[in-house]
Amino acid sequence: MHIPVLRDEVIHHWLGDPRGFYIDCTLGGGGHLRQLLPHLSDEAKILAIDKDGEVLRQTAATLSHPNLRLVNGDFKDLDRFLAPGEEGQAEGILIDLGVSSFQIDEPQRGFSYHEDALLDMRMNRNQPVKAADLVNQLSEQELSRIIFTYGEEKFARQIARAICKYREKQAIETTLQLTDIIKQAVPARSRRDKHPARRTFQALRIAVNRELEALEECLPKAVEALKPGGRLCVISFHSLEDRIVKKFFAEQARTCICPPRQPVCNCYYQPSLEIVTRKGITPGEAELEVNPRARSAKLRVARKIVVLSNREEE
Ligand SMILES: C[S@@+](CC[C@H](N)C(=O)[O-])C[C@H]1O[C@@H](n2cnc3c(N)ncnc32)[C@H](O)[C@@H]1O
Repeated sequence: MHIPVLRDEVIHHWLGDPRGFYIDCTLGGGGHLRQLLPHLSDEAKILAIDKDGEVLRQTAATLSHPNLRLVNGDFKDLDRFLAPGEEGQAEGILIDLGVSSFQIDEPQRGFSYHEDALLDMRMNRNQPVKAADLVNQLSEQELSRIIFTYGEEKFARQIARAICKYREKQAIETTLQLTDIIKQAVPARSRRDKHPARRTFQALRIAVNRELEALEECLPKAVEALKPGGRLCVISFHSLEDRIVKKFFAEQARTCICPPRQPVCNCYYQPSLEIVTRKGITPGEAELEVNPRARSAKLRVARKIVVLSNREEE
């Protein structure tokens, strides 16, 4: 059983009242939830979500709690998964972004550039669009934009051009076909540090699963779901995700929205979040030694602000 990313730090912030209502938006292999459960009483309620039905089924069999509710769905629809009376009640919410080890290590899922498989990369296998559809159907310009934006790949144009040239002769169906095209397209000196296909695969995965859109939709719904004082914990794995979380937290934590040149604040703006981890928490050397995949992880935590009624303020 693997140790989940930033295990102790996540439990420290996620856990509050042992009888509370907890949400795991990204159940995956259940690593974090398995660590939380022993701290909870039987009265606690847990909602665990994953858009990958296979992962959810496998993990469900390994977890037990009398009030555990599992939902196969996208966390962008979090509000729809709450039972009546649960809105504004969550003690803690965890969003651990990206793919699970189960998905990466399963070659047929097509996430890995090391193993030959159909170029799939769908977390939800009921959705129609696979990575192969993107590389075979998008225009060169659109491919280049996706690889540059979501992969932060400086050779995006060269890679997109090589993909389009290759598919004039033959469709791109497998992970290793794409890996070979990328290797040919990038200069030899750039292949030294990290795998040359890493950024392109990340970009296609984000595009196929609409990962950033889902995160943007979920964050405000997560705040709504929290009770005052409840905590929202988000683990991101690359700068694009982290930027969205950081910006959202900063916006929700603002105490004033007066125009910048106005000398005195008169908006009395009520923030909805208080930032708990100003810089974000990253794994230490000891964790990285046993789990190198945690290298880019960053945990950000914010607490829902207790809104004072007028009577309490007086
Ligand atoms: C990094 S793993 C979670 C690992 C888990 N915390 C653990 O310790 O085992 C991320 C999981 O979130 C799921 N996921 C990613 N985006 C999702 C979304 N928008 N809605 C629901 N599940 C999502 C993936 O299918 C994957 O299983």
